[in-house]
Amino acid sequence: MKKPTIYITRKIPEELLEPYKEQCNFTMWHKEDTPVPKDILYEEVKHADGLICLITEKIDAAFLDHAAHLSVIANMAVGYDNIDIAKAKEHGIVVTNTPDVLTETTADLTFSLLMATARRIVEAASYIKEDKWGDWAPFMLAGTDIHSKTIGIVGMGRIGEAVGKRAKGFGMDILYHNRTRHESLEKKLDATYVPFQTLLTEADFVVSLVPLTEETEELFNEAAFRKMKSSAIFINASRGGVVDEQALYEALRNGYIHAAGLDVFKEEPINSSHPLNQLSNVTLLPHIGSASVQTREKMIQLCLDNVSRVCHEQKAVTPVE
Ligand code: DGY
Repeated sequence: MKKPTIYITRKIPEELLEPYKEQCNFTMWHKEDTPVPKDILYEEVKHADGLICLITEKIDAAFLDHAAHLSVIANMAVGYDNIDIAKAKEHGIVVTNTPDVLTETTADLTFSLLMATARRIVEAASYIKEDKWGDWAPFMLAGTDIHSKTIGIVGMGRIGEAVGKRAKGFGMDILYHNRTRHESLEKKLDATYVPFQTLLTEADFVVSLVPLTEETEELFNEAAFRKMKSSAIFINASRGGVVDEQALYEALRNGYIHAAGLDVFKEEPINSSHPLNQLSNVTLLPHIGSASVQTREKMIQLCLDNVSRVCHEQKAVTPVE
């Protein structure tokens, strides 16, 4: 059998490819921090059997019509809203993602962002860097408690559960909303399933971990923010598209909610001129949910396992079904 050709849309460490080189030929884009230009990607993929891509690549109908040889697309992310799954299926292409390996790391970041936003950690650190620390004062940088508050997790998948475990450890009450109820989880985490509207009105921290789909697009809109407590903190570690950013901006500016911590945005990357960055009650991060060295290596390995298996007529480890 001829060795399959795999195109990788970003530079990844050579040593991670080494174990797979007997089974596959690899070509990759030579930059780590810049996506491959569309024309180069289209040219490279014409002859490729497999593709390893990132959320920065839009794998739409036009792309798929063009990629005649592809039998597998391994997305280096658990979310796959950048890929037209139905169209890929029509072309007989297996799409895979990277669940499980990033669960705990992403939950760590989500909970860190919640804590950083509540306790104003980023703002506080800048006090020293920017020489703003005057005399100690009773309410200087006073934030919001986390322990004994109510967290409302929207999207109780693997990462939602892992965030729930952390919340339980902090003595929080846990509400959740999800397409389906998880009764065993309710016992394990002492969590309560509630309708979405109830979660919005009762939670002190509303945490979005829902995937971006037609149903969840702009789920967090003006009506949702107006339902939340004026003391509520909104955290988004899923996808920017689940939020109406203009409505969030107005909610934060007009005090419908207290603060927000965001790791994801509708159009990424954003820069310092983004409207949300003009507000003092936001903590913004550049989409780093799964960004630990260990987890990113595991995600790459899982992509390599998936492409190599499918190209050798074996079942993918983590197909999107
Ligand atoms: C994911 O896995 O979906 C993240 O958002 C990208 O690492």
